Amino acid sequence: MSQLQQKTIKEQLFNAGIRQQLDKWVAKYPIDQAQSAVIPALHILQAENGGWLTKALMNDLAVYLDMPAISVYEVATFYSMYELEAVGKHKISICTNISCMLNGSEEIVKHFENRLGIKFGQTTADGKITLKEVECLGACCGAPMLQLGREYHENLTKEKVDNLLDGLE
Ligand code: FES
Repeated sequence: MSQLQQKTIKEQLFNAGIRQQLDKWVAKYPIDQAQSAVIPALHILQAENGGWLTKALMNDLAVYLDMPAISVYEVATFYSMYELEAVGKHKISICTNISCMLNGSEEIVKHFENRLGIKFGQTTADGKITLKEVECLGACCGAPMLQLGREYHENLTKEKVDNLLDGLE
């Protein structure tokens, strides 16, 4: 396939705004190493798709980055930051790993469950909040902690959780 044909195919995969974001990352690597941009590219596609990745998006990305689709799936399924099913407007990822567990994450989780009426892996009926259990997020000194969007919330207490939930639109 000629380079022109490849370019034409790629231009049909995503809208111009997404391609612009992807190309910014692809440009950071050698011309034959576009696949090196797969992690930020998946973040871009996930953000543009309401917080989760479809198989079709991952297949298109594989073509866009000239890499096997299986390699895109491998990355997307390895990291907990990627979602392969629809999530709520807000995804709350709570660490239950050792430091957080020793500092009370179980109580924090129970408080979330009581307030929201959902368990890990579930989304509130109004589609507003998804609760997710995650392994260590590298903020052990602030245990127990959670991630909401791009922000970490540390040294959690029930009061902090209440304030956080009350502030979500
Ligand atoms: S154990 Fe929870 S952030 Fe490290």
